[in-house]
Amino acid sequence: MLADSYGRVATDLRVSLTDRCNLRCTYCMPPEGLEWLPKPELLTDDELHRLIRIGVTMLGITEVRFTGGEPLLRRGLPGIIAAATALRPRPKTALTTNGIGLARMAPALAEAGLDRVNVSLDTLRPDVFERLARRRRLPDVLDGLAASAEAGLVPVKVNAVLMRDVNDDEAPDLLAYCLERGYELRFIEQMPLDAQHGWRRDTMITADEILDLLGTRYDLAPDDTEERGSAPAERFLVDGGPATVGVIGSVTRPFCGACDRVRLTADGQIRNCLFAREESDLRPLLREGGTDEEIAERWLAAVARKMPGHGIDDTGFLQPARPMSAIGG
Ligand code: GTP
Ligand code: 5AD
Ligand code: SF4
Repeated sequence: MLADSYGRVATDLRVSLTDRCNLRCTYCMPPEGLEWLPKPELLTDDELHRLIRIGVTMLGITEVRFTGGEPLLRRGLPGIIAAATALRPRPKTALTTNGIGLARMAPALAEAGLDRVNVSLDTLRPDVFERLARRRRLPDVLDGLAASAEAGLVPVKVNAVLMRDVNDDEAPDLLAYCLERGYELRFIEQMPLDAQHGWRRDTMITADEILDLLGTRYDLAPDDTEERGSAPAERFLVDGGPATVGVIGSVTRPFCGACDRVRLTADGQIRNCLFAREESDLRPLLREGGTDEEIAERWLAAVARKMPGHGIDDTGFLQPARPMSAIGG
C-alpha cells in the first residue's frame, strides 16, 4: 500500500506517456515549445507495462490515468492501455487529452479497454482557440469529443481553464455546449506550473469568480448526492440537476488533504505530488536488473515522503523545475 506520513494512500497512478504536445497553450508552454526529453530516456512500452503491473498487483493501484504532454502522440497507445486493462484486479482507466486526433483514435482506445476520457476545451471560438493554443485545431477537438461519446468513453469530461480577458466571457457558453451534449464540464483554476513562469496570483480567475460567471445564466447549488472523496472537482447541480458542473479550485480551495495520486513521468521518475521538489528515479532499477520487489520498495519510499500540501501560499514557494507538460496533468 502506497501510504504517506499524513495518512493518505495513493491508489490513482497518473502515467505521463510523452512530454511532447501538438498545441502550445499560453498557460502551459512558450510558442517555440520546450526542449523535449531525448528518446532513450523515455520508458519503453515494456518498461511502462512492468511498472503499471507492479503498481496494480503489488502496491494497490486501482486507477490508471494516461496523460502527457499529449498522450495521443504516443505510438502504441492502444497496446499500452490493453496491457493495463488485462491486469487483475483490472484497474479503471482514463485518458486526459487535448483531443487532437481523438476522433480517429476513439474506437481503438475503447476497443483496448479504455473506460473514459477527459478532454481540454477552453473556448468555442476558433479565433480565441488560435490565440490560446496557438494552433487552428478547434474542429478537431469538437470532433474528438463527439467521437468519444459515440465510442462509449463515458462520462466524457471536459476541462476548461479560464484566462482573464481571453476566454473568461465564455463560461456560460461552454456550459451550455456541454449540457446539450451530456459532457461533464469542469473549470480549473490556473496553477503556477507553466514553463514560462508567467502565473500571477492576482490575475488568476478564482473558483469564486467562476461560480459568479456561471451564476449570470445558471442556478448552481452544491451537489450533495455523491461523496466527493478524493476528486479535485467540487460539483454543483445546474438548475436543480441532474446535470452538474465542476470547479477545480486547486489554488484557493486546495484538496491536498484527500489526495490519492502518485505520478510516473515519461522518463521513469516517481513524483509524489504535482508540486513535489524531488523525484525518485526508477529507470536505473528497470534497466540494470532490479527486481520487482526493489522497484516496489523505492516507489513506497518515494510516496512515504509526500508533502502535506502544494504550498503555493507559503512564503518562498518555488515552482517545480518541471512544467506541467512534463509532469503529466
Ligand atoms: P477525474 O475527475 O477522475 O477524471 O480526474 P481529474 O479531475 O483528476 O482529471 P484530469 O486529469 O482531467 O485533471 C483535471 C485537473 O485537475 C488538472 O488540470 C489539475 O488542475 C487538477 N489536478 C489533477 N491532479 C491534481 C493534483 O494532484 N493536484 C492538484 N492540485 N490538482 C490536480
Ligand atoms: N493550471 C491549470 N491547469 C492546467 N492545465 C495545463 N496547464 C495548467 C495550469 N498551469 C490543464 C489542461 C488540461 C489539464 C490536464 O490541465 O488544460 O485540461
Ligand atoms: Fe499541450 Fe496540454 Fe500544455 Fe495545452 S496544456 S500545450 S494541450 S500539454
